Amino acid sequence: MKKEGKLMEKIVALAKRRGFVYPGSEIYGGFAGFYDWGPLGVELKFNIKQAWWHDVVRRRDDVVGLSAAIIMNPKAWEASGHVSGFADAMVECKKCHHRFRADQVEKKCPDCDGVLGDARQFNLMFQTHVGAAEGSESIAYLRPETAGGIFVNFKNVLSSTRVKLPFGIAQIGKAFRNEINPRDFVFRTREFEQMELEYFVKPGEDEEQFSEWVKERFTWYKSIGLKNVRKREQEKEERAHYSKATTDIEYEFPFGWQEIEGIANRGDFDLSAHQKASKQDLTYFDEEKKERYLPYVIEPSAGVERIALAALCEAYTEDGDRVVMKFHPRIAPIKAAVFPLLANKPDLVKKARKIYEDLQKEFTVAWDDRGNIGKRYLSQDEAGTPYCITVDFDSLENDDVTVRDRDTAKQERVKMKELAEYFKKHLA
Ligand code: GAP
Repeated sequence: MKKEGKLMEKIVALAKRRGFVYPGSEIYGGFAGFYDWGPLGVELKFNIKQAWWHDVVRRRDDVVGLSAAIIMNPKAWEASGHVSGFADAMVECKKCHHRFRADQVEKKCPDCDGVLGDARQFNLMFQTHVGAAEGSESIAYLRPETAGGIFVNFKNVLSSTRVKLPFGIAQIGKAFRNEINPRDFVFRTREFEQMELEYFVKPGEDEEQFSEWVKERFTWYKSIGLKNVRKREQEKEERAHYSKATTDIEYEFPFGWQEIEGIANRGDFDLSAHQKASKQDLTYFDEEKKERYLPYVIEPSAGVERIALAALCEAYTEDGDRVVMKFHPRIAPIKAAVFPLLANKPDLVKKARKIYEDLQKEFTVAWDDRGNIGKRYLSQDEAGTPYCITVDFDSLENDDVTVRDRDTAKQERVKMKELAEYFKKHLA
């Protein structure tokens, strides 16, 4: 087996063993394209979303947030072109009837060597029915991108806030695509979360704003510790039906360079389509120019699970027999673990417990009093915890503790009352 394949296998095994990611519905044999995130994984994803929301929404004066419904009036998806155009070409094997994306296979079936049929368009939107009746009237869709909810609320945000161009509306939420070939662990799944910003600009300023956002988003990945990232401009044929230009941010996974975020210039495609279909005025009144127009939109759109997978790959480090998950402190699931040196010494446990409870007010911390200290370090290294705090007999005398750094394994004594400050500084 190739080295990259082995590395992915190890990451998938660790993810399950340590509670980052489980196969979806596993006791029923799994369900292709769906995964469940365990206790450590949910913290990792939460930290990624929090870092994004902090930098893209809260730290900026020109961006506001939104949380729209997953199921929208189906007319919205007709207007946006998703009902007619959000499709992949698919081929089916005449022998085993397995289906593949036409652009990913040659003439023969990769599973049984059978002959493949002609390509046909396959719409990626999941359908459901709303209400008791199940006719064509009741068809609705699970959103394939969160962006739709933003466009249909453009007018609401304009009239309920004081935003002025250029400004953005951001949203984090689930999206669903009935992918023909879910693959590469959580890289391509049928249910995932997106972090999307629709940044509305004056027509004519779109190209400059597009370059700004490409730069801004590219540097953001350094702030969560992803080093193997690059930019790639999409060719015209690759671009979505609404896009005038798209630049992808790619990460070098063990299975190759792949997109984790796309930044698109959607022009006024969406507002114009929704204005036409809804017969509502979606124009913006420019007070300086004293004129109304439809803004253009720049859209940075990232996938939470793809970034989490990139973080797992980036963090995975073997040191002899030991695995250390070297997550950037900003996204590490647990920031510090607290240990009493011995679990059967009430004085040590009491003091350690106090530290644990104090730190819990500000950080995600873990408690461990099982086995020996060496084993506890190994366990926290695998979870990617940047710091371990041990309360020992000297702590009872001096009110200080040992703090051990995950990456260097170096230890230092820190006064108990300075611990919160110490972590604020080191985790920043
Ligand atoms: N609104 C624009 C949009 O949805 P996209 O390139 O189709 O654009 C944006 O998706 C991001 O969503 C991707 O860069 C990826 O991170 C994530 N994504 C898309 N499809 C996915 C899938 N099937 N599984 C996991 N993540 C996916």
